[in-house]
Amino acid sequence: MTLLERLTVNDLRALPDGFRWGAATAAYQIEGAADEDGRAPSIWDTFAHTPGAVAGGDTGDTACDHYHRWPEDLGLIGRLGLDSYRFSIAWPRVVPQADGRVNAAGLDFYDRLVDALLAQGVTPFPTLYHWDLPQAQQDRGGWPERATAERFGEYAAVVADRLGDRVTHWATLNEPLCSAWIGHLEGAMAPGLRDLTAAVRASYHLHLGHGLAVQALRAAVPGARIGIVNNLSTITAASDSEADRAAAVRADGHVNRWWLDPVHGRGYPQDMVELYGVDLPVRTGDLELIGAPLDWLGLNYYFRQIVADDPGGPLPRFRQLPGPGPERTAMDWEVHAPGIEQLLLRLTEEYGARELYVTENGSAYPDTVTADGRVEDPERTAYLEQHLAACARAVAKGAPLAGYFAWSLLDNFEWAYGYDKRFGLVHVDYPTQRRTVKASGHRYAELISAHRAR
Ligand code: FCB
Repeated sequence: MTLLERLTVNDLRALPDGFRWGAATAAYQIEGAADEDGRAPSIWDTFAHTPGAVAGGDTGDTACDHYHRWPEDLGLIGRLGLDSYRFSIAWPRVVPQADGRVNAAGLDFYDRLVDALLAQGVTPFPTLYHWDLPQAQQDRGGWPERATAERFGEYAAVVADRLGDRVTHWATLNEPLCSAWIGHLEGAMAPGLRDLTAAVRASYHLHLGHGLAVQALRAAVPGARIGIVNNLSTITAASDSEADRAAAVRADGHVNRWWLDPVHGRGYPQDMVELYGVDLPVRTGDLELIGAPLDWLGLNYYFRQIVADDPGGPLPRFRQLPGPGPERTAMDWEVHAPGIEQLLLRLTEEYGARELYVTENGSAYPDTVTADGRVEDPERTAYLEQHLAACARAVAKGAPLAGYFAWSLLDNFEWAYGYDKRFGLVHVDYPTQRRTVKASGHRYAELISAHRAR
C-alpha cells in the first residue's frame, strides 16, 4: 500500500469484533516529575545524565510532563476513540529504594490513572517494567544478580495488591531483549555495560523476575490476564552462502528464540547457550517458574533484520545490513509491513499462541506544526495503514490477534535518541507542552470508528 492507495475498512474486516484499539507509552518516556512525590532515580536517570549518552544531552526530567498533565492526555485517548491504553508503572516511584519500603504517593498516581481510565471506558494495560530499574537496585548489582529478580517479584505483588481489584490485563516486562542486550552488551542503553557475561545473566534474571511477577499476579488477582512483551524481528540471511545462513540462525536465536523459548517452558535454546558460553545461574524450579503458562503474548514490531556473517565481530558474530526497501523512517529503520504478519503467524504456529496483541508498532518522522495548527504526517499514516492491513492478513490466516496498540500516544523521550525522534499520534511541543493531534491520529480514530461500526 503506497501513500496513494488508502486503506479501507474492508481491508480490516478480518479483525474480530471486540478488537482492542489502543496506544502505548512508557513511564520514563512521558512522565517527567523525576524527583517528585518520593520517586528516586532509575538507571535511566543516571544514564541520561551521563554526558554523551543521549543525543542532545536530553533527559526524562520533564519529558511530556504527563505526571501533571495526565487528565489532558486521557482526554486525547478519548478524542482518538481508544478503548485500551498501554502504559508502564515506574518501579522507582513505587519502591524507590533498596529497603523495600513502599512509597504510597507513587502508587496513588497509578491508582488515580486507572480509575480515570475506567471511568472513561478505557481498559488499562499496565506494564510492570519498561526499563526503569531503581538505581538503588543497580547499585546492588542490577539484573545480573538474582536479588533483582526477587525484588521485582515483590514490587509486582505490591502493585497487584493495589490495582488488582480493577486491572485485569497485565504485562510483566517490556522488551527484555533491550534491557539485556542493548543495556548490558552493546552499552547503548542503561545501564550502559558492554559485558557478555553480565548480559546473559541479566537476561536470565529478567526472565526469572517475569516468572516471579506472574506468580505474584496470579496470587493477588483472580482472573488476571497476564502476558509478556517482546520485540521480535523476522530474520533473513543476506545471501545463500552457508556462512550467512548460519549467521541468520544465530541472529534468530539472539533476537527471537532466546526470548520466546524460556517463557514457553522450552528452556533456553541449546545452540545459543553453547555459543554464549556463559553459565546460566539456574536453580531448581526456576525454569518451571519462567515457563509458567501465560494468557497472552505481546509483539512489538518495528523492522526486519537482514544479517550477514561477521566472523571477526563480537558474539553472536552477525551484522545487520540495511534493508533494501525504499521507505525508511527517521530512525533509519526500513518500512517492511509483511514482517508483522510473519511474526504474528510464527507466534501462532510455532509457539501455539492463543491470544496476541501488537503492543507496539509505529514510526518516527520529523513532524512540524503548521501555522494554522495542523501536523501533516502522510508517511506515518501510510505506515499505520500498511501495518494494520498486514495484521488483518495475519488474522485471516489464523493469528488470534486481539488488539493493536500504536506506539505512541505522544511524542516522547526516545531513549538514547532523546526528543528528536517523534513517534506520537499526538505532537508535543516541548517548550509549551502543547499537544496537537497529528493527521495520522485523526486517521487512526477514523479507522477505529469505521471498524466498530461495520
Ligand atoms: C521500543 C520501546 C519503546 C519505544 C519504541 C520506539 O523498543 O519499547 O519504548 O522506544 O521502541
